[in-house]
Amino acid sequence: MELEKRHTLIKEWLAVIKDFIIKELNKERIIERKSHWNDLVTDVDILIENYLIKQIEIHFPGELILGEETADTRIAMNQINIEEERLWIIDPLDGTLNFITSQKDYAVLIAYYEKGIGQAGYIMDMNSYDVYHAFHNQGVYKNDQTFQLKNSDAQLYEGFVAFNSKVVYLERYEKIRQIGKKCLGVRGTGSAGLEAVNLLNQYTVAYLSSSLMPWDIGAATILLEEAGLKSSDFEGRDLKLTGSSSVIYAYPSSFNEIHHHLKNEKNEQ
Ligand code: IPD
Ligand code: CA
Ligand code: CA
Ligand code: CA
Repeated sequence: MELEKRHTLIKEWLAVIKDFIIKELNKERIIERKSHWNDLVTDVDILIENYLIKQIEIHFPGELILGEETADTRIAMNQINIEEERLWIIDPLDGTLNFITSQKDYAVLIAYYEKGIGQAGYIMDMNSYDVYHAFHNQGVYKNDQTFQLKNSDAQLYEGFVAFNSKVVYLERYEKIRQIGKKCLGVRGTGSAGLEAVNLLNQYTVAYLSSSLMPWDIGAATILLEEAGLKSSDFEGRDLKLTGSSSVIYAYPSSFNEIHHHLKNEKNEQ
């Protein structure tokens, strides 16, 4: 009942955000630089995040909110034990650089956790406007219809693997890059949320990314685990809700192949 109320509201919020973004397309953007020259934020990211925060505060006062553009420093400083709390994790636009450059390949991500357990995850794919969601132990839905994977398992040779940019250009990820030799080919969208959608649709069989933040993966982890896929960091540890982490999401056999490769095989040039 509680989750249903959240679900009804989240769907309303996503519908408002979708209409808002569509109206904003092709307008001149206000773009600001954050930590580096290519770490950018637009007025649209900020307006969506502020809208979501306002809605959560109205309907669920007192619950914690971790949003990319307004990250709660108490959480970052570990002053709050989020494993004890009701926590919203939001990424108002995932794929901001894609939004700025092409207005394609971006998503809106919302997740809700209770005591560290993902209760509800939402990804709105802004190419198709499809909304994928999952509740804890209740499977995955696409536009509110039950969603089934094409196959519950897949090996690396059967599909594409996605990497993020740092895996491609940093020398230290050579061993990760060699996974590219074992799969059909290497891809990358620039949106962690859309990588989860690509996995759900078995366009890819694995996604490996260095340095993702909780808002990049909060919703995806819930959806992919509910779909029966596996997740960990590059060392095989469970993903955390704080700080930056490497991430592997994959179909079970691909996941085992990746970890076997990372543990056992020497770097090949
Ligand atoms: C980014 C995307 C991208 C990933 C970056 C993230 P943003 O999120 O998810 O795929 O490689 O690390 O920062 O900034 O566009 O929300
Ligand atoms: Ca960003
Ligand atoms: Ca993101
Ligand atoms: Ca973002």
